[in-house]
Amino acid sequence: MALIKKFRIKKFKETKPILSLEKISMFYNKRQILNNLDLKINKQEILGMLGPNGVGKSTIFHIITGLKDPSFGKVFINEIDCTDIPIYERATKFKLGYVPQYGGFIQDLSLLDNLNLVGEIHIKEKDLRKLKIDKIIAQFEFDSLLRIKAKHLSGGQKKKLVISMALINDPNILLLDEPFAALDILTIKMLQEIIVNLQSLEKITVVVCDHQARDLLSCVDRAIVLSNGKIIASGSPDEIVKDSSARSAYFGDEFKIN
Ligand SMILES: Nc1ncnc2c1ncn2[C@@H]1O[C@H](COP(=O)(O)OP(=O)(O)OP(=O)(O)O)[C@@H](O)[C@H]1O
Ligand SMILES: [Mg+2]
Repeated sequence: MALIKKFRIKKFKETKPILSLEKISMFYNKRQILNNLDLKINKQEILGMLGPNGVGKSTIFHIITGLKDPSFGKVFINEIDCTDIPIYERATKFKLGYVPQYGGFIQDLSLLDNLNLVGEIHIKEKDLRKLKIDKIIAQFEFDSLLRIKAKHLSGGQKKKLVISMALINDPNILLLDEPFAALDILTIKMLQEIIVNLQSLEKITVVVCDHQARDLLSCVDRAIVLSNGKIIASGSPDEIVKDSSARSAYFGDEFKIN
């Protein structure tokens, strides 16, 4: 498979991470999911998170957004400790965009009204708002779907809607929890291009997890593999697929990038 990325930012000029998790542990009842996890993400980096079902990827997104409090540890955005900052304030103050694994839209509103709803929260000026929403409608080819209630959209159309809603805010940091699941091949390619363009043109930072490992690895700068509550491997796509721990915990022996 051809790599989408024409270049990878090997060395990030910014030494200060835009997002850091420090010594994060997470317990559900007495079951430990995350174990003293440290993770730093550089500005303008596209980081891929991989790991088996139930390893804690969505939990990490919940902890970054503030949907869940970690049992221990701290979350820093732009070097500001935001562990106790509520979810709505993190979203607006730090311009966090989030595409959850499930849901993320209002079932009984039309596709257009879902876009309008998010637009009205984030863009006060009416003409600017219309411009932004029109751009998204064109980019995602939503023209024939505008009046359909979100609950009646197909699985892939719903996913596209939620991704487009996360972009209305022009996020600085975009968190994507399984964005490729349910998307057709061309739509995956479109989304990969959107992600890479956002990085190079808008300089945004992206954290993405997905089980479509090849699709994910073709658009990230760095990937990590999680296993048993820890990061067991970290590196470029080429490095990570050769890593013996990553292969035994996630990829298996047969996996190839091309
Ligand atoms: N509210 C909760 N109460 C109890 N256990 C939970 C809760 N939320 C998540 N878990 C458990 O935490 C673990 C991590 O879940 P999480 O959804 O983060 O996994 P994941 O890596 O995103 O998996 P997948 O690839 O299947 O989406 C799972 O074992 C799950 O059952
Ligand atoms: Mg998940």
